[in-house]
Amino acid sequence: MTRFVAILSGKGGVGKTTTAVNLASALHLNEHDTVVIDGNLSTPNVGLHLGIPNGVHNFHDVLEGRKHILEAVYKHPSGIRVIPADLSYERDADYSHEQIQHAVLDLEGHTNTALVDTAAGIGLEAKKMIHFCDEALVICNPNISSVIDARKAIKMCEDFGVRVIGAVVTRYRGDSIDLGIGNIESILEYPVLSIIPEDDSIRHSQNLRNPVCHSFPQSYAAKSYNVLAQRMLGKYNQNGNI
Ligand SMILES: Nc1ncnc2c1ncn2[C@@H]1O[C@H](COP(=O)(O)OP(=O)(O)OP(=O)(O)O)[C@@H](O)[C@H]1O
Ligand SMILES: [Mg+2]
Repeated sequence: MTRFVAILSGKGGVGKTTTAVNLASALHLNEHDTVVIDGNLSTPNVGLHLGIPNGVHNFHDVLEGRKHILEAVYKHPSGIRVIPADLSYERDADYSHEQIQHAVLDLEGHTNTALVDTAAGIGLEAKKMIHFCDEALVICNPNISSVIDARKAIKMCEDFGVRVIGAVVTRYRGDSIDLGIGNIESILEYPVLSIIPEDDSIRHSQNLRNPVCHSFPQSYAAKSYNVLAQRMLGKYNQNGNI
């Protein structure tokens, strides 16, 4: 059985794509088979983060019924498997619930976990992608606007009956300006599963078109994504201990 997990935020630019790619990499390194689906159809970035050429079969082709979803799976040199979306401005982003459901459910049973990167915000594009997912992981930065928008994204999941696994705080500095993790958890009403520090290794690895867990496995960011992977796999308890 495949676990479909939406990676969503509320506010844009908080680290959803970075998390989808690096959580997939950390799960892969934990020998858990994972596929990343680029469900951000209007402004897809997964392929850009990983240097995937735009000519390959992609999620748009699948949604338009021209390719089976398994034909659009791209194996990245780091080992992770990805279904990229088309980068062209001309490609549609407006597919029906039925088209998305039909395309994606063909992946059922072919991987343990499908991580679905989504468009920013809680508009129709994100809603359609979240609708078919079983679970959601909510990404935010440690500032009030990002956390309030994440709370709205959580509410949307609750309305849809999508189980919220928890939150990931990215770009955390831990200084006096950052919102504290306790505050974030009480606003979101869900636990923070991992805190990803502000870390230049993320930018360096994106420049190398590789997950940070692959390029810089000893970095703080890679270790924090590994904690997230372990918690997703149920290896850590609520206190972060194995
Ligand atoms: N932990 C981190 N440390 C440093 N930079 C980071 C970190 N996480 C993400 N970034 C940077 O933040 C920027 C936005 O990240 P990303 O593209 O993953 O956000 P997003 O939520 O997917 O954005 P969008 O809403 O536009 O899809 C990127 O330039 C990335 O390099
Ligand atoms: Mg993104």
